[in-house]
Amino acid sequence: MVRDWLTKSKYTVIFTGAGMSTESGLPDFRSSGQGLWEQEDPSKIASADALNNNVEAFIDFYRTRVLNVKDYKPHNGHHILADWESQGLVQSIITQNVDGFHQEAGSKRVAELHGTLQKLHCQSCGKEYNSEEYVNQEYYCKCGGVLRPSIVLFGETLPQDAFQFALSEAEKADLFIVLGSSLSVTPANQFPFIAKDNGARLVIVNREPTELDAFADQVIHGREIGNVLQEWDN
Ligand code: APR
Repeated sequence: MVRDWLTKSKYTVIFTGAGMSTESGLPDFRSSGQGLWEQEDPSKIASADALNNNVEAFIDFYRTRVLNVKDYKPHNGHHILADWESQGLVQSIITQNVDGFHQEAGSKRVAELHGTLQKLHCQSCGKEYNSEEYVNQEYYCKCGGVLRPSIVLFGETLPQDAFQFALSEAEKADLFIVLGSSLSVTPANQFPFIAKDNGARLVIVNREPTELDAFADQVIHGREIGNVLQEWDN
């Protein structure tokens, strides 16, 4: 049924979370038993406060994540989404992910709501750096400020340009497909609602139940995203 919706829809927007990248080898955050936040307390490691008061642990955690996104690659599911964009089947992707895999697979219209691990900037003067600095164990700016990934930490606001782009896409969608998100983090989890409120059909593909399942037109649990996308692509 979703495959039909995909071919018939005029404006399809894809919304992805960390579950989109687990088949590339990157852990997600809340999968029962294996998510990152099962081992770490996000408020102590992924917040602006952690950056100021727990800087060694912060850098250690994020250096590992920067190295991971350099070692791992987009999987077939990312490439299918990029192909669908070039075929006109998908108009854009709104992602919570910071791995850059959608762009690496060829997707062009991507809103990175939570920023990217591909860039760093100085917490004090804002100067931008390449993530290679972390690979080379360079953690401080010439001004003395600490270098941090250009991602949104808990307690920080989302980048306005990505937010506005995502808002406009969600309002235009007549088909809104969520792939691999628990939909537990605001304001990102408002976009499926916005799409639905503007008349879109809402599809959720997620291994486990999400907070928005009751509002979806179609929910697919217990299956791997890569297989579902491959099936729709055939
Ligand atoms: N196929 C289908 N679903 C999957 C797969 C897979 N291969 N792998 C994981 N999942 C599902 C998990 O069951 C889980 O419910 O993906 C969901 C991922 O949810 P989270 O780990 O909560 O990730 P996400 O929703 O992206 O988190 C949102 O929280 O910590 C912040 O900034 C971080 O962007 C992140 C935000």
